[in-house]
Amino acid sequence: MDYVFFFFLSIRKGFLGPPRKLMDLTSWVIIPFLFGSIGIYGLVRLLRRLRSSAYIQDAVVVITGATSGLGKECAKVFYKAGAQLVLCGRNEEGLKDLINELCRIRKGSVQGSYSLARDSDESHTAILGTAPGTEERSVRLHVFLCDRTLQSECRQQRRVLPCDTHPSLAQFHKPHIVIFDLSDVEAVANAAKEILQLVGKVDILINNAGISYRGTILNTKVSVDRMIMDTNYFGPVALTKALLPSMIKNKRGHIVAISSVQGKISIPFRSAYSASKHATQAFCDCLRAEMVPHDIAVTVVSPGYIQTNLSLNAVTDDGSRYGVMDKNTAEGRTPEEVARIVFRAVGERSKDVLVAGLVPTLAVYLRALAPKIFFSIMAARAKKERKFKDA
Ligand SMILES: NC(=O)c1ccc[n+]([C@@H]2O[C@H](COP(=O)([O-])OP(=O)(O)OC[C@H]3O[C@@H](n4cnc5c(N)ncnc54)[C@H](OP(=O)(O)O)[C@@H]3O)[C@@H](O)[C@H]2O)c1
Ligand SMILES: *[C@@H]1O[C@H](CO)[C@@H](O)[C@H](O)[C@H]1NC(C)=O
Repeated sequence: MDYVFFFFLSIRKGFLGPPRKLMDLTSWVIIPFLFGSIGIYGLVRLLRRLRSSAYIQDAVVVITGATSGLGKECAKVFYKAGAQLVLCGRNEEGLKDLINELCRIRKGSVQGSYSLARDSDESHTAILGTAPGTEERSVRLHVFLCDRTLQSECRQQRRVLPCDTHPSLAQFHKPHIVIFDLSDVEAVANAAKEILQLVGKVDILINNAGISYRGTILNTKVSVDRMIMDTNYFGPVALTKALLPSMIKNKRGHIVAISSVQGKISIPFRSAYSASKHATQAFCDCLRAEMVPHDIAVTVVSPGYIQTNLSLNAVTDDGSRYGVMDKNTAEGRTPEEVARIVFRAVGERSKDVLVAGLVPTLAVYLRALAPKIFFSIMAARAKKERKFKDA
């Protein structure tokens, strides 16, 4: 900005007299200042990225709703970053498929070229490999633990001698599966026990699972409102409460909620879903403040539409499956992109992240600053949608 301003000034001066001094100022002060700032900015970003990858490497990360959509993609990015995953959902087959997919990621990473590396004291041997297609110079970024399967694979290729296991060299941890229904509070309590038995502690809990809804308030059975609140709100709250004491004991923890733009503004015919996400936001804002003395971070991510099966899996006023892929959902961001945003937000311990385009972002501000305008826009939208439905 400064540079542009001075440039403008120097042109104007050109009409009045020699702009020499300003040119000197530009070349001796402004340009070095500009490049210096860019350099510092780059350095800060690099340091941030390193800090955030150290935060996630080896962390125990529990992800609910890992069977599909955003949860599945989050599992992949956190797995690649070296997190120890606990994958949750109701569909066991889906989770097993995901584990197979993660295994392929691990194996894919060690195909390509291998070489051996030893600790300076020769006590440990690791395989350094490049993922197919990556350049040789990135070799040191891929340090792999010689676990038993890899060892035999590598021996077949006659590249590697028997070697030790060294936890600090482990890039990939074996993921675990815990099956439970979030709308069943008792099942949630048992699941929390199972998780702690499996992995001993939880560093990061990502409350991602959720169900959406379409219907009018007048026609929707209260049992449907309740089921949605149980799945999207009470289940995650119960899981959070069950895991918090162990986090506090370990003096390390992070609660992440995948909310929605609809946790900030309410749109017609989504009452139960919107209410459950508003409740999530409110709960997390309280939690964040209450957890400050315990140094436990709370992150709320509120995305707009994502290309997942959420609208297909949504329920209607009588609890039956909606089963339609909405246009907005189909045209949303990809789950891979949103998973990367979630990953960054967690690594940087962000507090509140809105992942939305210009219009939804403006709507969030409008609701806060000019509610009357927002309400009339929503009334018009309800009228239009009702007409569309009646047609
Ligand atoms: N897609 C969007 O446009 C969008 C926008 C904003 C926010 N979000 C939020 O993003 C999160 C992920 O949704 P998605 O888009 O990835 O949809 P999705 O593909 O339908 O995934 C939902 C996940 O939640 C799990 N789940 C649903 N009900 C459950 C229950 N009773 N108990 C346990 N797990 C349950 C499902 O696993 P099982 O079937 O195995 O149980 C599934 O893995 C949700 O919280 C959603 O509200 C989505
Ligand atoms: C949507 O569901 C289908 C069928 O169950 C599945 O194959 C697909 O991977 C799902 N899509 C996403 C984005 O999870």
